[in-house]
Amino acid sequence: MASDSFPNPGAPAGLATHRPLRPAWAEVDLDALRANVHALRRVAAPASVLAVVKADAYGHGAAQVARAAVEAGAWGLGIATVDEGIELRRAGIGAPILVLGAIGPGEAAPAVAHDLRLTVAEETVAAATSRAAAAAHREARLHLKVDTGMGRLGVAPADAAALAARVAALPHVTLEGCSTHFASADEPDLASAARQLEVFRGALSALEHAGVRVALRHAANSAATLALPEARLDLVRCGLALYGVVPAPHLVGRAELRPVMRLCARVVHRKRVPPGTPIGYGHAYRTTRETTVVTIPVGYADGYPRAAGEGCTVWLRGRCAPVAGRVSMDQITVDAGDAPVALGDAVELWGAAVPVEIVARAARTIPYEVLARTARRVPRVYLDGGRVAAVRTLLGEE
Ligand SMILES: Cc1ncc(COP(=O)(O)O)c(C=O)c1O
Repeated sequence: MASDSFPNPGAPAGLATHRPLRPAWAEVDLDALRANVHALRRVAAPASVLAVVKADAYGHGAAQVARAAVEAGAWGLGIATVDEGIELRRAGIGAPILVLGAIGPGEAAPAVAHDLRLTVAEETVAAATSRAAAAAHREARLHLKVDTGMGRLGVAPADAAALAARVAALPHVTLEGCSTHFASADEPDLASAARQLEVFRGALSALEHAGVRVALRHAANSAATLALPEARLDLVRCGLALYGVVPAPHLVGRAELRPVMRLCARVVHRKRVPPGTPIGYGHAYRTTRETTVVTIPVGYADGYPRAAGEGCTVWLRGRCAPVAGRVSMDQITVDAGDAPVALGDAVELWGAAVPVEIVARAARTIPYEVLARTARRVPRVYLDGGRVAAVRTLLGEE
């Protein structure tokens, strides 16, 4: 990758009126996102795809990602909280939106008002939703969550049919879906996920025997979508794969996925230093030879993990260069060796050349956390058809 393949964030092509941006930004490639939706639809068919865009679309930007995912044929959108759903409705998104998390008391009314489908595991929540729907002269759609072994949110399988029957009997409510969630579909050994699926099938049969029909049965996250065909049912709920990250190394190649986000920055300072020069907080790094140390204006407050300082690399001038010393709040230092670095050179912190999985591994975490923590103050530069289509900064979208 040539360093001049980076767009100039000071003057993004196609956005002539945009004011200069800080020299750190996250490119979000909407073409890659749409291609990933198409790839997942091909894998999942005949099941539909729910694009999971919670947590600001895993840091990519909820409204932009949601729009692109729906354009590419996603059936609907999955979010964690009612506010996230309202944010999407305010952005003009009309596609089905399912709140995957539990809601708080009083949240049924705003959810119904914004036509958000709700996940329920508690009868009180279903009853509150029914009352909110009656008051708003609307019909609410609910999805019953069954805990088949995740141990988190969901009614016990043995109680699912009885609760489903009571929920389905509530006025102004349609029980549209029934779901469960896997604890370990990303492991090479699928025995536990297969057991959970078996339990879920048992609960679904019990619902049928109780005379409750649901249109959408769903269980699969990205890993199960790729690894466990029987789990695809009517709908798959894909998050990580949507963003071009394969949930586990053994699943590479199951679908053609392209990374969507590239975290970039520019060299803002560089200096030639002698061997033995201490660098950064605690002097945790010491140069071993004469070298060029460069400063990159991205730190842990931007979402670059502090723990990645040790052992991680960035992509600079066509090669990997090690992060030198501790990650600060707003800056990192990189040992560029003898590379002919110029001020303003673009650096990739994660993306195509340095997969986000590498950064996550260095930080002893998972790519979900690294992506989702990309800070709001990092401008998102949306690429569409190879050009900058929009920019979202701390100050809003332009
Ligand atoms: C209930 C539920 N379904 C689906 C997903 C998407 O998971 P993934 O990003 O692994 O595809 C999540 C994410 O954590 C979730 O909580």
